[in-house]
Amino acid sequence: MIKEIPILIENGTIVTDESSFKGDILIEEGKISDIGSDLQLPGGGVEVIDASDLYVFPGGVDAHVHMELPLGQGVFSADNFESGTFAAVKGGTTSIIDFVTPERGQPLLQALKERKELAAKSLCDYGFHMTITSWNDNTPTEMKKCVDKEGIASFKLYMAYRDTIGLGDAAVIKVMDAAANLNALVMVHCENSDIIGFLQKKFLAKGKKSPGYHPRSRPPEVEKEAVVRALMLAKMTNCPLYIAHVSTKEAAAEIAAARESGQKVLAETCPHYLLLDEKKYGLPGFAGAAYVMSPPLRAGEHAGALWKAIKSESLQVVSTDHCSINMKDRQKLGAGDFSKIPNGVPGVEDRLSLLYTYGVLQNRISINQFVEITSTAPAKILGLYPRKGTIKRGSDADILIWDPTNKGIISTKTQGFICDTNIYEGFPVKGKPHIVITNGKIAYEDDIIKLVKGSGKYLSREAFLMEQF
Ligand code: URP
Ligand code: ZN
Repeated sequence: MIKEIPILIENGTIVTDESSFKGDILIEEGKISDIGSDLQLPGGGVEVIDASDLYVFPGGVDAHVHMELPLGQGVFSADNFESGTFAAVKGGTTSIIDFVTPERGQPLLQALKERKELAAKSLCDYGFHMTITSWNDNTPTEMKKCVDKEGIASFKLYMAYRDTIGLGDAAVIKVMDAAANLNALVMVHCENSDIIGFLQKKFLAKGKKSPGYHPRSRPPEVEKEAVVRALMLAKMTNCPLYIAHVSTKEAAAEIAAARESGQKVLAETCPHYLLLDEKKYGLPGFAGAAYVMSPPLRAGEHAGALWKAIKSESLQVVSTDHCSINMKDRQKLGAGDFSKIPNGVPGVEDRLSLLYTYGVLQNRISINQFVEITSTAPAKILGLYPRKGTIKRGSDADILIWDPTNKGIISTKTQGFICDTNIYEGFPVKGKPHIVITNGKIAYEDDIIKLVKGSGKYLSREAFLMEQF
């Protein structure tokens, strides 16, 4: 095997979740081998990267993405694992966690095998949460195999979408109980499925079919009720809980209260809930459909509360729920019925630039907290730390060298992911990746991706450790 030339990143401002300091980083054989100043260099030459005036962050970890997601009628979300991970790396994210969503009754490991085959073309490292879409006698044994043999220590449940992939409380309790016995985390999409169905039917019966009725059929109470229920069920089963894509101030407050009471609960929000609001659904014609995701965008006051919840660490992670969908596909499936518009919006590429610009530069979060919510906390929660999510000796050399001075405007014309719209179109951003290193190799430099299809590796993850939080 040809030995890789070591890389020396010189004189950068190294930023972790805990501190920021000037220093050098030596990378050998895919790992960070040393950090400091005046490092002892190996013989035989090194590639030197001058990082003066640049930040050096651990590569981003996106805990929640959906690449090539089947949306029904043979339609898939626009990004496959190759284009989606291309966009991730372009934006500074070096690990993604996607989902396995078995057909009801399908063995979990068979569904995992199929998903692994699709994901093998990823450019960066990837892992999965396992979704439990139905319960049968084999489920506990299969869940154990997911944890022990496949390194999947997180299970996803939907309280919404009961007709297809969602579970009722009886099954939720069984999954939480089994996960608790395995020391695994349960990630829950919290929305009350029955009331959504009721409201959807009510609006449709009155001829109210446009995208504007998507948020009206999923008001804040729909999320809050399900969050309260998930918290209670997790408490009764002693199951560590991770609440996905928190969108409301009420849900954030319930999570904060549960944490204060000592419950094992962690939670994420997404850039779209922090930076966009429900007015988008009022765009003319079908244009609001570009913003259809669940839970939906909210009134402006929620975003302020979510930023505060991040600042006070009652929300620990900002991930994207990346699921890019072309307008033609939204039209095809949902033109005459808002309840059939496929759900999902992109984000994997712009997460870091958006959070740096609208979080760090607007003094909503510190630069160390930026690293925490985009990299360290998701790595810890998902059993990847300290391999990922930090800059330490022995960690994987997944490193983001960040140019804080670069100014840009987000646009579909320059985006790396596949989608005919960009929900952040026209957003000014300051700061972007200058160089991205994945597993010790330069993956992206000055707008050019250097990775080939399939460079990413499957991430087998460790068990969940609540003591870290
Ligand atoms: O609206 C959302 N959250 N779409 C992404 C796909 C999913 O099932 O979470
Ligand atoms: Zn999702």
